[in-house]
Amino acid sequence: MSTGTEGTAPAVCLPAAVEFRNVTKLYGRGTPREYLALSDVSFTIPDRTDHGEFASFLGPSGCGKSTVLRLVAGLEPQHPPTSGTVTVLGREVVGPGADRGMVFQDYTSFDNRTVLGNVVFGLECRGVPRSQREAEGLDWIERVGLDPVQDADKYPHELSGGMRQRVAIARTLILRPRVILMDEPFGALDPATRLDMQDLLVKLWREVQATVLFVTHSVEEAVYLGDRVYLMDTTPGRIAEEIILPAASAPAREAQSEPWFNEQVMRIHERIEQIEVTAKPLPQR
Ligand SMILES: Nc1ncnc2c1ncn2[C@@H]1O[C@H](COP(=O)(O)OP(=O)(O)O)[C@@H](O)[C@H]1O
Ligand SMILES: [Mg+2]
Repeated sequence: MSTGTEGTAPAVCLPAAVEFRNVTKLYGRGTPREYLALSDVSFTIPDRTDHGEFASFLGPSGCGKSTVLRLVAGLEPQHPPTSGTVTVLGREVVGPGADRGMVFQDYTSFDNRTVLGNVVFGLECRGVPRSQREAEGLDWIERVGLDPVQDADKYPHELSGGMRQRVAIARTLILRPRVILMDEPFGALDPATRLDMQDLLVKLWREVQATVLFVTHSVEEAVYLGDRVYLMDTTPGRIAEEIILPAASAPAREAQSEPWFNEQVMRIHERIEQIEVTAKPLPQR
């Protein structure tokens, strides 16, 4: 049967980078604390081998953003979903794996390891020989904008918040995950550092061409970084809207003062206000 599409570009046959199919998550099932955190969540983030897709997640507190990320990471107790399927690169998630890396908001470095020790930790676990992992580690320290000579031997308590998040990013990216999960990674940083980190992330993301799932409370950050934004609604957590956006083409400070950017940000703010107004109050627990 003719589909009428002959001669057009071939359909993309790659499995999606991340796919949720009718995912529901009920915490504390059968207990008095039972709570429906996600209800029938479906979305597909394609695997774009040419640049990697950047998907931002926005929504009120408690709408299930971290639950979504941790389901992708295969981390308990979010994993496994109560029903539905989560697939990464065509395979159902059965637990954590090297194809996924996660960066959290809190500074999660090992206090007793130096910057270099933290950055190479994953390679050490994989049994990569010392000289090779240290060479790669120093390269990554430089790529995230730290100084391999001055900073490599520092301990986390000697670093600013921005520097610590650079270490966390290096520690994750050195393992070359195909999917990078970031849960409010810049949430604790001051506004200027945050813009610098956004620029750094765009640069690195272009280099590694991985798919990024990025949770943030900042509409500006979500719109600047995202190729698409998933706007979530709450009680129960669900996807309210998927917004496709142009890719970041200018540095953060410049792009975020352009008219199209401000219009998009205002529209999303209005939509979030609607969501917050109609959100049912959380049940007493
Ligand atoms: N382990 C858990 N047990 C019970 N409830 C949980 C658990 N983790 C999260 N929740 C609840 O599920 C909802 C969604 O949580 P979360 O995914 O952390 O939201 P967000 O990251 O959007 O703030 C919240 O109401 C939270 O209290
Ligand atoms: Mg969260």
